Amino acid sequence: MTHRIGIIGGDGIGPEVVAEALKVVDAAGVAYDPVPFDLSGARYLRDGVVIRDEDVEEIRGLDAVLLGAVGTPDVPPGVIERGLLLRLRFDLDLYINQRPFTAGPSRYNDGVDFIVIRENTEGTYAGEGGFLRKGTPHEVATQGSVNTWMGAERAIRYAFELARSRERKHVTLVHKTNVLTFSGDLWERAFRHVAADFPEVGTAYNHVDAACIYFVEDPARYDVIVTDNLFGDILTDLGGAVAGGIGRAASGNLNPARTGPSLFEPVHGSAPDIAGQNKADPRAAIISAVMMLDFLGEETAAGRIRTALAKTDDLTGSTTELGDAIAAAL
Ligand code: IPM
Ligand code: MN
Repeated sequence: MTHRIGIIGGDGIGPEVVAEALKVVDAAGVAYDPVPFDLSGARYLRDGVVIRDEDVEEIRGLDAVLLGAVGTPDVPPGVIERGLLLRLRFDLDLYINQRPFTAGPSRYNDGVDFIVIRENTEGTYAGEGGFLRKGTPHEVATQGSVNTWMGAERAIRYAFELARSRERKHVTLVHKTNVLTFSGDLWERAFRHVAADFPEVGTAYNHVDAACIYFVEDPARYDVIVTDNLFGDILTDLGGAVAGGIGRAASGNLNPARTGPSLFEPVHGSAPDIAGQNKADPRAAIISAVMMLDFLGEETAAGRIRTALAKTDDLTGSTTELGDAIAAAL
C-alpha cells in the first residue's frame, strides 16, 4: 500500500530539513505519495491565510503528515502556532506528543534513553482565558488550564502501554501537585487508577522543578515520563539539550486511536537565524520520519534508517551533507 503523506515544509529551516528527511525515506525504498501543503508564516504574510477548512479536511484523509517547522518573527506570536500547529493537533485529535531522547554525542549522554509522553490537546494549550479592560491600568488577563479525566487517563494509559513494551518498564508522572492542587490532583488520581492495570510496570512521581534537576544531573534514571501539555513542552526542550542537542529531538503527534493521520515533526523551530544557510542538523526531522515509518507499519525501513543514523552519529557537516551521508549509509 502506498502511503499518502502530507508534507508541510513550513518556514525557516523547515523545508531544508524536510527535504533531507524525504531523501532518506526515498533511499530506504519506501513507496509514498507526497501531498505538499503551502502552509507557513511566510504564506500568511503573503495572502493572509493560516490554513483553510478544506486543507484540514484534506489532511484528515491522509495517512500521515511530516512537518518541518512553522513560524516567522514577522508574524505576531500565536497566529501560526495556534492557528496552524495547535489547530491540527486539536482538530485531528493528536492527543499524544511522543518525544524520544536517546544517547547522542553529549557530555550528559551516559545511558540516556527515555521517552516523554506529553498530553497534547488540553492544559493551558486549550486556550481558555481572555482579557478584561485590556490596555487600561486595571487590565486583567486570565489563562486557564483544561484538564479532563479522559484526557489525562488516555495519555497516562498510552505511557503505561509503551513502558510495558520496554525493557525497564517504568513510568514517572511529572507534575506540580504541591501547587496545582486541582489539576495535579486529577492527574495523580488518574495515574494511580491506570497504574493498577499494569502491576508489571514500576512507577514514580517527580515535581516538575525537581525533574529539571534530574534531567541535567541524572537523566539515565528515566524510562517513560508522562506529563501535561505545558510541562511536556518545556521539559522536552531540556531533554533535547541533555540528549545530544535539539538537532536530534524528534516528535510524533499521535492519534493512537487512528481515527485520522498522525503528524511528525522535529521539536526545534524554524530557526530564522540560520535559515537558508544549509546549516541545520536534519537528524531531528529524519528521526521524526523514522517514527512516522514505524507508525505506518514500515518497521523494516525504519530499522534500516536507525542503523544508518547510528553509523553516522559522530558525523558533522552541512544539512545536505548529513542527509546525503545518512542516505548513503543505507
Ligand atoms: C513544540 C513547540 C510548540 C508547542 C509551539 C510552536 C506551539 O514549541 O512543539 O514544542 O509549544 O507545543
Ligand atoms: Mn516546544
